[in-house]
Amino acid sequence: MNTEVLIVDINSPDPGSISRAAELLRQGRLVAFPTETVYGLGANALDSDAVARIFEAKGRPAFNPVIVHVADVDAVKQLAAEWPDTATQLAERFWPGPLTLVVKKAARIPDIVTAGGLTVGIRVPAHPVALALLKEAGVPVAAPSANRSTEVSPTRAEHVLKGLDGRIAMVLDGGPTTGGIESTVLDLSREIPRLLRPGLISAEQIEEVIGPIVRLKERESGDSPLPSPGLMRRHYSPQAKVEMVVDSGRQRVEELVANRVSVGWMPMGHNHVPGAETRPMPSEAHAYAAQLYSTLHALDEAGVNRIIIQRPPNEPEWLAVIDRLTRAASDE
Ligand code: TXA
Ligand code: MG
Repeated sequence: MNTEVLIVDINSPDPGSISRAAELLRQGRLVAFPTETVYGLGANALDSDAVARIFEAKGRPAFNPVIVHVADVDAVKQLAAEWPDTATQLAERFWPGPLTLVVKKAARIPDIVTAGGLTVGIRVPAHPVALALLKEAGVPVAAPSANRSTEVSPTRAEHVLKGLDGRIAMVLDGGPTTGGIESTVLDLSREIPRLLRPGLISAEQIEEVIGPIVRLKERESGDSPLPSPGLMRRHYSPQAKVEMVVDSGRQRVEELVANRVSVGWMPMGHNHVPGAETRPMPSEAHAYAAQLYSTLHALDEAGVNRIIIQRPPNEPEWLAVIDRLTRAASDE
């Protein structure tokens, strides 16, 4: 089975392409589409067979729940058993946008979507193609990132095809995504809201709206049962072995080059070592996030065996990027 690729203009998505993609979703097929964070792999969230195909295509473990995407906040009424005031406030402030809210689920959501749990993660994405598709499909769309499980998330249609060509019906190609890393996941199903995955909306931005939240400690992720199963330590990993270093990494890179290891290097700012594939990274956190996955994909394409990454500063605005880098570098 070949995967159909339709190029769509993000400023005015062609209605014909959107309606074809929506039709496939309603038939229970899988369609990858761009969001403002990364590409998602969509299926009708109310059709458990369709959602099962997501898990199969990704090789995703059944214990990891998927996020449900909707076109507007009104649609959550059918999906959530409870919609707390904090959710209303956050949706008003950040939707459409890269924030996933975890709330108690409505009975009609199939168990496979929530990995058997009693909560569901919901978001309204801020991308014209995603919104057009959600409106046209008329069903909530379950969509994890459109990559094979544990691999680097896709920020371009080519990245989607690299892992999923032949396994899914269609990709809507809306060019590179701008956010570059996944949405923030916030659990509102318990008394004190808890940050499950740092992302493009920071904990501080959330706290400005709803007051103090609990941040997940690093060691909390990784052991089962997981508060958010997607927080498995090894994740977002390229083929090459990744090392994060606290200095620029120059010495480590020189040493590897001298030992004839084919090495990719991601220093912050311009730098150069002959013989290494150098990809200078931005020194501003959002710009860095936007470039992170495409750089990891590019270094894999270049065929390097090792990737040396300069660790960004331990400051709040870098939390999400450091989280992804730590997982990319993990062997567990
Ligand atoms: O930006 C994004 O969030 C992208 C785009 C496509 O929307 N999606 C995405 O999905 O990153 P995925 O499946 O790769 O990651 C979803 C994360 C996982 O860490 C998962 O464990 C968590 O959200 N999650 C989903 N539903 C949950 C729930 N009910 N309770 C706790 N965690 C949940
Ligand atoms: Mg993912």
